Amino acid sequence: MKALVYNGPRDVSIENVPDAKIERPTDALVKIVVTNICGSDLHMYEGRTGMESGRVLGHENFGQVVEIGSAVDRVKVGDWVCLPFNIACGFCENCERGLTGFCLTTNPGSAGAAYGFDQMGPYAGGQAEYLRVPYADFNALVLPPDAEEKQLDYVMLSDIFPTGWHATELAGVRPGESVAIYGAGPVGLMAAYSAMIKGAAKVMVIDRHPDRLKLAQSIGAIPIDDSADDCVEQILNQTGGVGADRGCECVGYQCHDHHGHEVSNLTMNRLVDSVRPTGGLGVVGVFVPKDPKGPDELAKKGQMAFDFGKFWFKGQAMRTGQANVKAYNRQLANLIHAGRAKPSFVVSQTLALDEAPEAYKHFDDRDHGWTKVTLKPAA
Ligand SMILES: NC(=O)c1ccc[n+]([C@@H]2O[C@H](COP(=O)([O-])OP(=O)(O)OC[C@H]3O[C@@H](n4cnc5c(N)ncnc54)[C@H](O)[C@@H]3O)[C@@H](O)[C@H]2O)c1
Ligand SMILES: [Zn+2]
Ligand SMILES: [Zn+2]
Repeated sequence: MKALVYNGPRDVSIENVPDAKIERPTDALVKIVVTNICGSDLHMYEGRTGMESGRVLGHENFGQVVEIGSAVDRVKVGDWVCLPFNIACGFCENCERGLTGFCLTTNPGSAGAAYGFDQMGPYAGGQAEYLRVPYADFNALVLPPDAEEKQLDYVMLSDIFPTGWHATELAGVRPGESVAIYGAGPVGLMAAYSAMIKGAAKVMVIDRHPDRLKLAQSIGAIPIDDSADDCVEQILNQTGGVGADRGCECVGYQCHDHHGHEVSNLTMNRLVDSVRPTGGLGVVGVFVPKDPKGPDELAKKGQMAFDFGKFWFKGQAMRTGQANVKAYNRQLANLIHAGRAKPSFVVSQTLALDEAPEAYKHFDDRDHGWTKVTLKPAA
């Protein structure tokens, strides 16, 4: 089958690889209809992880079940499914508590597995014609009859919509509150969208790319351009000088100033400054235990100069980590089905899988008009 293979830093190509197949009785085989490129893929694409060459990328997958293992009895051949990027067992201590991003079974010795991801198990990604889905009865979200028609909405349930939602959950967003969101990439936009759905009174999104800020504005958020003025000051001005009730970090360890220089503590310290005393911080941007190519000595060790004194003095709370997609994807699917949510507003390109290497380049350069790329292996 055809698949997108990671060869090394900024080098991906479409190759013929062995067909994905049922390996265990609990597996399903899914024909991929839509698969997205994610900001998380870019950390790997840029060579800023330990990703091994030869692996197939892609963890945001949607398609149709073509085969099931002998122990699968809920999911049927022909079902339209969206696959959470987390691969979870459903029966370990963490899965039992809904923490499927930290499954103890699927990536032994660690917590949490995913398709086509560094440090998250050996699983192949779905930027390919077919995908093997472990523990399919637990993992696959079977979609309603409008699945094919709303495929660009439902595919966002694999990651960015639940992840954006998770950011607002971790921060503790409640109706009527104000929220500051760092990053207007797909994840930040979904956090803003989630905050709007939850009834936030004021949502502010910080970035410097006009096309992304415009999308934030299109859903009713206030765009804050940090290349024009100090973004913290702009947020304080918007919140009577005290700061937002809640703050979300949706950028991650490769955050940079608007000239492109990486400053690893930039968003975290600005988040503390932007949120009021006793406010909540939700951090879904990825940070890593070590980053050998990081911009400074601390970053190389996965550390940063965090304004802990200020954070403590303000009595803020912070929660972090991978999204537990299954905790939210069914409810968010209901919102899509009912016409109450349309997360496909972030999609800028729908391309054939063959065009993925070019698409990676544009998305990685954050070229104007490349906000979210979806790929169609069958096109
Ligand atoms: N926790 C999870 O489960 C989860 C899931 C998906 C993605 N992620 C992570 O979320 C992060 C964002 O993903 P994405 O797909 O939106 O990526 P992206 O790279 O497309 O978007 C990041 C945005 O942040 C902006 N940015 C950079 N520095 C900034 C700064 N100092 N202030 C404000 N904005 C800044 C960039 O201009 C860009 O628009 C990545 O780290 C990704 O790995 C986490
Ligand atoms: Zn993703
Ligand atoms: Zn588990």
